[in-house]
Amino acid sequence: MPAERDREPAPRASAGRIPPARGTGAGRRLANLWRLRRYLRPYAVQFAWLLVAALTATAAGLAVPLVVQRVVDGPVARQEPGGLLRLGALVLLLGLVEAALIFIRRWMQAESSIGMETALRADLYAHLLRLPTSFHDRWHSGQLLSRAVSDLSVLRRFLSFGLFFLVLNLVTYAAVVVLLVRLHRPLGLLVAASAVPLFLISRRFARHYHAASRRMQDQQGDVATLVEETALGLRTMKAYGRGPQLSARFGAGARALHDIGIGKARLLARTSAQFDLVPNLTLGGVLVAGTVLVADGRLTVGALVAFVSLQLMLIWPVQSLGWIIANGQEAATAADRIQEVLDTRPTIVDAPGAIGLRRTEVRGRLVFDRVSFRYPQSAAPVLREVELTVEPGETLALVGATGCGKSTLLSLVPRLHEVTGGRITLDGHDLRELRLATLRRLVGVAFEEPTLFSMSVWENLTLGRPEADEAEVRAALVLAQAEFAYDLPWGLATRVGEQGLSLSGGQRQRLALARAVLGRPALLVLDDPLSALDVHTEALVERALRRVLRDTTALLVVHRPSTVALADRVALLERGRITAVGTHSELLATVPAYRALLSAEPTPTPASAPTRASTPVSASTSTPTSVPASTPTAGRSVGATPTAGRGLVSS
Ligand SMILES: Nc1ncnc2c1ncn2[C@@H]1O[C@H](COP(=O)(O)OP(=O)(O)OP(=O)(O)O)[C@@H](O)[C@H]1O
Ligand SMILES: [Mg+2]
Repeated sequence: MPAERDREPAPRASAGRIPPARGTGAGRRLANLWRLRRYLRPYAVQFAWLLVAALTATAAGLAVPLVVQRVVDGPVARQEPGGLLRLGALVLLLGLVEAALIFIRRWMQAESSIGMETALRADLYAHLLRLPTSFHDRWHSGQLLSRAVSDLSVLRRFLSFGLFFLVLNLVTYAAVVVLLVRLHRPLGLLVAASAVPLFLISRRFARHYHAASRRMQDQQGDVATLVEETALGLRTMKAYGRGPQLSARFGAGARALHDIGIGKARLLARTSAQFDLVPNLTLGGVLVAGTVLVADGRLTVGALVAFVSLQLMLIWPVQSLGWIIANGQEAATAADRIQEVLDTRPTIVDAPGAIGLRRTEVRGRLVFDRVSFRYPQSAAPVLREVELTVEPGETLALVGATGCGKSTLLSLVPRLHEVTGGRITLDGHDLRELRLATLRRLVGVAFEEPTLFSMSVWENLTLGRPEADEAEVRAALVLAQAEFAYDLPWGLATRVGEQGLSLSGGQRQRLALARAVLGRPALLVLDDPLSALDVHTEALVERALRRVLRDTTALLVVHRPSTVALADRVALLERGRITAVGTHSELLATVPAYRALLSAEPTPTPASAPTRASTPVSASTSTPTSVPASTPTAGRSVGATPTAGRGLVSS
């Protein structure tokens, strides 16, 4: 199943929800659980000791009925109080040994299971970080969350209790049956035969429960996604008054979870009743047959008491079988769900022999050489044979209608997505020949959506450069006009809320910009970096940015003439291709589509019209205050004329 996912990614709507394995064999169901054994390997010795302690405790427990047999057939029958005391003391000693060993087992047990859970969680998280953005595009975060939290807990419970008791109970069952056969062969064989119905019940139960637990765990992931989406989009939901609809959606998801849970519980209850019935029926049969045998003198009273006492010791192992199998099937499902993530191979990784480059070695010539790109789930490419060169130290602005692929093009530079055709080179090196860590250190990025993490401002700023010092951070903050950070309640140590929600959009954008320019990266990739700033701040940031851009190669996505002023040249992206490159004034003068995008002019004729997605760039968003398109310096003049140039192009 996981391999299938790799080849053909599931649409996001159903991501992470996979029908139960087609094969119903126990081997197939348990295959992924078995693959996790390497996480238990470090605890193999400990586990062996645990088992020894548990088996010794069980042996001590099993010895008690045999001593009782001696008591009944010996001192009790012969009425010898002296012998009774000796044997009584032995029973007491055996009981104490059993209790001490059980205590030691429980004490040690937690360490191995929690250790295994921690190691697996660390690997899962590291793997999620290695997986490309395309994986995260198609997997619901709630599904990942439920795998990293609840599925791992299920596995821990199985490894600390389920698996342990499975082994222990099977060994106990076998040992008791051997003792019973030795005590009285026909009655012992009768008890042994009861294993057959138990096996059949277990097999059927395991099959049904596996499917139910898969549904349950998937549904838990879906509910987690709903909660997560609500938490993230709460403001929008409230603003649109969508609370009742959202509650209804959540109610339906929670009800489905409830129904599956009830179904599972009933299945377990039905099967547990069957598991209860078998040993009790056998016990009844043994009591009747045993009494007849005692009456006939073919069995001593002591032997019957020992037999029944031993048989009673089977009741709990058999009764708990339902719970252990349920736990095992949940663990198998959890293992399936975790392996589905772990089996997804990271596609963007270091090539063999990938090289590292130092910042000082990089001149910063960035070339897009017939670059094409198509998103995995889409039929049509977003970028087609893009040809573009950014010279060292040059600032190139990328202009294009909304949805034409600008952000996509930028994401190819730090290899967040991999080109599907052509190549991108930095100083002649194909980006795929560079070590990923090197590349991502060389490239400073600020995305359209300035994401801040729930950690301190300092940590957010130094995300890509943990070694940055106070002076560098200050320089970056000054450059991004983000000195407001020093005025936060705890200065740079202030923890900004999840996604920086406690900051304004413009503040977040400025911090994201400071993060991008920190340490003067060789390549700066900024996606509309000034969109959320007021004109005054924008002008200040622009002025400061200009200084950084002087010695850095930069690729900026720009929507407004005011920001175009930062660029040495501008490239126009249309229908996935670069259709014009030149200075702002050249393009304004010669390219009608460009003029239409950056001015109040209506969209040009279909021949040069932007793509379908570009149509939202409408003249209706422009205002009469816009700078005349025919003014060659329109873009540059806007920075100095605060009201002009704003909102000319919507995105
Ligand atoms: N993760 C994705 N999976 C599939 N298609 C995507 C994905 N991200 C973007 N697209 C599609 O690719 C096209 C280009 O998107 P992109 O974000 O690059 O546009 P853009 O030029 O940056 O737009 P804007 O100016 O609005 O920011 C769009 O049609 C979009 O629907
Ligand atoms: Mg974009």
